[in-house]
Amino acid sequence: MASAITSLVFHGTLVHSTTPQEIEILTDALIVISDSKIVSLSRSVAPSSIPQTLTTLGLAPTTPCTLLKRGEFLIPGFIDTHNHAPQWTQRGTGRGLQIMDWLNTVTFPNEAKYASPAHARRMYASLVAGFLKQGVTTASYYGSLHGEATKILAETCLSKGQRALVGKCNMVRHAPDYYRDGDNAESLAVTEDFLAYMKTLDPECKLVQPILTPRFAICCDEELLAGIGAIAARESGMMIQTHFDEAVQEVELTRELFPQFGNEADLYESFGLFNERTIMAHCIYPNDYEIGRMKECDVGVAHCPVSNTTGGEWGAAPIRRYLDLGIKVGLGTDSGGGFSSSIIEAIRQALITSNGLATMKGDKSVMVTLNEAFYMATLGGAKVCGMGDKIGTFAVGKEFDALKINTLEETGSASTILEDEDTMEVIFEKFLMAGDDRNIVEVYVQGRSVK
Ligand code: GUN
Ligand code: FE
Repeated sequence: MASAITSLVFHGTLVHSTTPQEIEILTDALIVISDSKIVSLSRSVAPSSIPQTLTTLGLAPTTPCTLLKRGEFLIPGFIDTHNHAPQWTQRGTGRGLQIMDWLNTVTFPNEAKYASPAHARRMYASLVAGFLKQGVTTASYYGSLHGEATKILAETCLSKGQRALVGKCNMVRHAPDYYRDGDNAESLAVTEDFLAYMKTLDPECKLVQPILTPRFAICCDEELLAGIGAIAARESGMMIQTHFDEAVQEVELTRELFPQFGNEADLYESFGLFNERTIMAHCIYPNDYEIGRMKECDVGVAHCPVSNTTGGEWGAAPIRRYLDLGIKVGLGTDSGGGFSSSIIEAIRQALITSNGLATMKGDKSVMVTLNEAFYMATLGGAKVCGMGDKIGTFAVGKEFDALKINTLEETGSASTILEDEDTMEVIFEKFLMAGDDRNIVEVYVQGRSVK
């Protein structure tokens, strides 16, 4: 169980994004958290002035204050905008398989095991603890199709203190008999039951909230998509997630199944599932028209560079275009679709993939910068999840979801070695490009320590 706090104070270095391109490094900041929120952020306080500043803020001058030493700093918690919870144990397997073969031979047999609540309880405890350990303070999860297991996933996030969007996966076709919803009515009834349960679990959606999760159009038919769209229209604040233009095989099969639509943007939009509340995973192959619709409808992109480049085909989403157009972009691990559940790894792979794309196009301007990748991992992801005004940066009034980073060898990690002349910019870069979860020494969600 996460521990509750009433007040928390840090002095030292904070790093966060101010725009997709710019980060801000505050080296002598004093930040005060009360209950879940940041109540004060003094940008430059000399260590000798800490007691006096605390007094000015109405706190006792002796209030315990964590002093961050050189090599230590705070960053906003990582946000995983696309994560298949039941695929936690299958990460890295089935490489090289085309999407439909991978689903049928690796993924569906694995996800089917979540019919057992005991299995779900055991695996989801490991999953949520594992993601928290890696600094993922918010995740947008696809559950399996099972109502019971998906409730267990939401309960686990709540009890371990992870902020999460949790969805029961809807799928009635193009999946084996042993792993698909019986029919559309059953698929929608299990969804409604899950939504009703979520209203009792976390009524104000303070930490955990439901998200509508049609797996992708291939696994749904018109009636099911219309049913989910009707729930989205009724529940005005509810988020929606699915997969979008993610593989050549998937795009072609979707066209065959829905010949009345020329593209996936029109398909999802016609069912009320393509709007500012939608998180679209992958977004590798949209055409110019669809990119225009993504911008117009304010859809968010879950960029999953690890799975995009190590699944059945090598795909590079046009992230430079999305960022330049002001389309919301966050990062996703995709869990089993990739090999890593680390957002740090996703940051690196976002750079590598954009470099590959730049080389293929002979155009260096499409490359994504490290600042942009960090933005996607934090504030960009927050916006994609509909939480841009709540988390993602350090600002008074926002909730304190943060990671304490230690880049020194004392953590037991030899991944980052500092030299005396290293500037804070260099230390930050070393962490993002060479660090690992051993450098993430504390994880806070809503001001509570949850690692
Ligand atoms: N498309 C439909 N289901 C899935 C899934 O589980 N993972 C990925 N990467 N793509 C999908
Ligand atoms: Fe996925």
